[in-house]
Amino acid sequence: MTDRPAAGSWSAPGRVNLVGEHTDYNDGFVLPFAIAHRTHAVVGRRDDARIRVASTFADAPVEVTLDELEALFPSEGAPRVAEWAAYPLGVAWALRHAATAPPVGVDIAIASDVPVGAGLSSSAAIEGAVASALTDVWGLGLDPVALARVGRRAENEAVGAPTGIMDQMASMLGRADAAIFLDCRSLHAEVVDLGFAAAGLEVVVIDTGVTHAHATGGYRDRREACERGADTMGVRALRDLSVADLPRAEQALDAETFRRVRHVVTENQRVLDAVRMLHAHGSAQIGPLLDSSHASLRDDFEISTPELDTAVDAARAAGAIGARMTGGGFGGAAIALTPHDCVDAVRDGASAAFVSAGYPAPHVFTVTPSEGARRDA
Ligand code: GLA
Repeated sequence: MTDRPAAGSWSAPGRVNLVGEHTDYNDGFVLPFAIAHRTHAVVGRRDDARIRVASTFADAPVEVTLDELEALFPSEGAPRVAEWAAYPLGVAWALRHAATAPPVGVDIAIASDVPVGAGLSSSAAIEGAVASALTDVWGLGLDPVALARVGRRAENEAVGAPTGIMDQMASMLGRADAAIFLDCRSLHAEVVDLGFAAAGLEVVVIDTGVTHAHATGGYRDRREACERGADTMGVRALRDLSVADLPRAEQALDAETFRRVRHVVTENQRVLDAVRMLHAHGSAQIGPLLDSSHASLRDDFEISTPELDTAVDAARAAGAIGARMTGGGFGGAAIALTPHDCVDAVRDGASAAFVSAGYPAPHVFTVTPSEGARRDA
């Protein structure tokens, strides 16, 4: 891109993952879609070499020089900047590693309507909006896949969360009324029509309000278990095992690692099955795959929570044709593929189930498969 706007407005969406959970960092398959909730970044070029970020998440802006970026993100330990600012500044840092950028400062103002901590990838939305803005303003000409890699690098190395690339790819590549079928090894992406409206279906999100943090704890443990499983099985990644290999894996692995591996292997197969069904029969057929994905995440990967299980059970009882937790787990949201006529019943059923279990009321809303990152003005 030779056109270098002095200022403008860019945005990128959050995402919902239809199926394919904890498969991305195993080089496997995922089927997310971008949602209409977006993060906006208004960016203007400065006359000096400073970066200033302001956000509706924070009381005060953060300002550093371009030269100071490197020291903010030491290779060991936490970022030396407020957590919210590590996302946009981490993107600037990763972009300047990915391409030769001019020593031109920028002002970045961020606002978002992607719920934070709900498993809808508010972080990838920030990364996508800022990366899209900076590649344009700095004239770097990076394509959407390169920008997704920049976002992941910011997340992994600047913020310190050991995530895969699904969220960034979904946020960059999303299309209206479609999912992105992504091979996380090759990064080959295929747009798969969902046709929810034609099938009379909606995706209802039930946000449990239980927030999660992927920088620590369970997510990292699960990732390590997967790497251990792949090592013991002598494959580069769990993507290289199929369902037919599971009996052999059961012999070779301890019981817990085997359950983790079985989740990933069967989940990869569910993504392939879902894509085939979407092509052959449309979205009305994929409900049972969402249900079995949830059971696998709950029983084998053990990353669901009582709140998520309650949400999933209540949604099904109220007429959803399939439901599952979505995102990294340990909290966040469930999704329910729901006939249009049952959306109110799912909302009421989930709320009632939460009240009777003694949980705070969930936040229930619908999401629409939408466009990925773009320049808006
Ligand atoms: C989080 C991570 C993704 C992916 C999911 C689980 O959203 O950011 O990379 O691993 O969890 O599927």
